[in-house]
Amino acid sequence: MNQEMAKELVLWYQKNKRDLPWRKDKNPYHIWISEIMLQQTRVDAVKKYYERFMESLPTIEDLANVEEDRLLKLWEGLGYYTRARNLKKAALKIVKDLDGKFPDTYEELLKLPGIGEYTAGAIASIAFQRKTPAVDGNVIRVMLRLKNSRRSVDDSKLKKDLFHELTEVIPKESGDFNQALMDLGATVCLPNTYPDCGRCPLKDSCKANLEHNTLNIPVRANKLKKKIEKYTVVIFEYQEKIALFKRPSDGLLASLYEFYMIDGSYGPRKIKEELEK
Ligand code: ADE
Repeated sequence: MNQEMAKELVLWYQKNKRDLPWRKDKNPYHIWISEIMLQQTRVDAVKKYYERFMESLPTIEDLANVEEDRLLKLWEGLGYYTRARNLKKAALKIVKDLDGKFPDTYEELLKLPGIGEYTAGAIASIAFQRKTPAVDGNVIRVMLRLKNSRRSVDDSKLKKDLFHELTEVIPKESGDFNQALMDLGATVCLPNTYPDCGRCPLKDSCKANLEHNTLNIPVRANKLKKKIEKYTVVIFEYQEKIALFKRPSDGLLASLYEFYMIDGSYGPRKIKEELEK
């Protein structure tokens, strides 16, 4: 990536950016909540959650004061509930320890619970125009394809190297630049299929495109195997009421409500035995 290409990307973004609810202003609270929701969840799924969240908790003070159960209800369906708990922790820190002033540098943002390098880079650039890159899986794919690089995405130094490379070329419109890379990765430079190179502003300088090698990049050395856990769910119904149980405050699905759940996969006889115990 060079500065010319960075400029092209910004122009492309300004013309083609997706119309998303958190792009209406640069309020750091708005940017922060959207970035946390987007960490493990697709843009389309996030839109409705984001709008409902902002209607319920329009300011950071509202978030700092919200009851955990109400917060988890707002988060219901998004998954990875630690994200929601960290949001409240960080809001309390900002309101109580930082006099309500949102941290505005990459380094200070990194100190907040739930904010890692990617999210710190995204908030610092989008809300505060800091020249900090935000490198996630989409950005890695775009960058590796530009160079036709066979480096494995599991390479532990890759993110750091790309962060440095991008720091050298990031323009003053840093938020637009980072979001251009995100949008390019999500809508043009697609994973696991033919990317839509005809629509790419960098197609003439992309080595993977020029060498017809986009499908082979990124290279992945070890694919993580998904862990499968089996549970049996029992629904207790009595006089048109259904029993719900609150889970312990740590571990899987911490503090969430559930039907009665037994570790392991059981048939009716074993379930009866378990319940008699
Ligand atoms: N994915 C993560 N952050 C994003 C953003 N700000 N816009 C679009 N997609 C994203």
